[in-house]
Amino acid sequence: MKKILFVGAEAMPFAATGGLGDVLGSLPTAIHEAAEGEADVRVVMPLYSAVSADFRSQMTLVQEYEVCLSWRRQYCGIYSLVKGGVTYYFIDNEYYFKRDSLYGCFDDGERFAFFCKAAVDMLGVIGFYPDVLHAHDWQAALSLVYLNGKYRQVAGYEAIQTVFTIHNIEYQGKYDFGILGDVFELGEEDRELVEYDGCINLMKAAIVCADRVSTVSPQYAKEIQTPEYAHGLDGILRQQAEKLCGILNGIDYDYYNPGRKGAVAKTYSWRTIPAKYENKAALQAELGLPQKNDVPMLSVISRLASHKGLDLISEMAYDFLSEHEVQLVILGKGESGYESFFEGLQQAFPDRVRALITYDRSLANRIYAATDIFLMPSKSEPCGLSQMIASRFGAIPVTRETGGLYDSIKGYWEEKGRMHGNGFTFAGYSAAELAERTGAAVALWQDEEKRKKLIGRIMRTDFSWKTSALKYLEMYASL
Ligand code: GLC
Repeated sequence: MKKILFVGAEAMPFAATGGLGDVLGSLPTAIHEAAEGEADVRVVMPLYSAVSADFRSQMTLVQEYEVCLSWRRQYCGIYSLVKGGVTYYFIDNEYYFKRDSLYGCFDDGERFAFFCKAAVDMLGVIGFYPDVLHAHDWQAALSLVYLNGKYRQVAGYEAIQTVFTIHNIEYQGKYDFGILGDVFELGEEDRELVEYDGCINLMKAAIVCADRVSTVSPQYAKEIQTPEYAHGLDGILRQQAEKLCGILNGIDYDYYNPGRKGAVAKTYSWRTIPAKYENKAALQAELGLPQKNDVPMLSVISRLASHKGLDLISEMAYDFLSEHEVQLVILGKGESGYESFFEGLQQAFPDRVRALITYDRSLANRIYAATDIFLMPSKSEPCGLSQMIASRFGAIPVTRETGGLYDSIKGYWEEKGRMHGNGFTFAGYSAAELAERTGAAVALWQDEEKRKKLIGRIMRTDFSWKTSALKYLEMYASL
């Protein structure tokens, strides 16, 4: 039986801020199921204050020990619970993790160094030595550095194979060399490993340390070897290219499910598409928009960050809304410039636009269920989950051909009455192209016959984890 340990900073439903949490909350179970009893999959993450009392009451305390990092001596408690066939471990230390937010603290470097050291120590403390330690994103990068540096001579740790997955290359964990020893407990002999462009770069170190490096779509695996996408790391990725691959994410088919009672006003499937319009009416009522089904509802559900392509939406929105009879719902928060832009847009079109500046998972579900056309014109997108969720809910995606969007959504076309593709796509980073494709989606939507056919195709596209979980198992087996 293969033993696999995921190390990462967040996992649904315990604590999450974005896509990484979705993946760590659903991929481990998918791997467990795909291995049909041949894999023991476990996950370790911090015990943040955000983890609910309900989950805490289901946990058992496994061990308590002291974690040493440089001159620091810190308490560490390991709690665990089993969910979906996967054992989740939670690293408890209130000094580091009893905070209002998961990240964004001045001492994130120290907090995640502690987390990584505690996670690697945990293996010996609980006597679980995985065949594969699979670390995710920069917050888990030091687990690979510590493992390769100090632990390889310790019994149990010698043969652990390692994988590092890049979910977003923009966030690398860059620090000044001043904290090399004092915070990260690294010495002069580690300088070359962690150094990139004159500072400490934790992601770079993990890329070098890992036996395999993966990212969350095949296209992004190519893109991050180029300067345009790599945020400076293309050189090292080209150098390590033989161990790099891309595996497309899936989504949690139980959670993101228009057939799940309680998630939507009226459940539906690709066989009962008209029931989708009851969800649209319900959301229009909830948001105080006119209840018209013949007006297509467009939506954007996204962190309001510039790489999500919001510049393009801002640039085309006023003209598009003036020229087309559509409703537009925006859900998300982030950069204040975008927040105020969308609030302004709602003021300009009070009976057609709603700007919901918040992060709310259950509201997101209701919006996906109500949406006719989903906009996701990202500038870069490692994988992107929203286009898959939108598809599952029968919203027609309009996406830019980049990263995982390129791999998951193919532009619609017709030949001899046969339909191809599962959305509307464009290549250039241009508001004109976005407006043109969105207009084409609106035009198709107005044609009831074609609308039904395309939505049926889209809803049946397989974005479950099945295929990708098998690819991860293949990768583990090849180590
Ligand atoms: C990051 C990426 C996103 C990806 C997710 C899960 O949030 O930005 O594209 O889908 O990680 O891998």
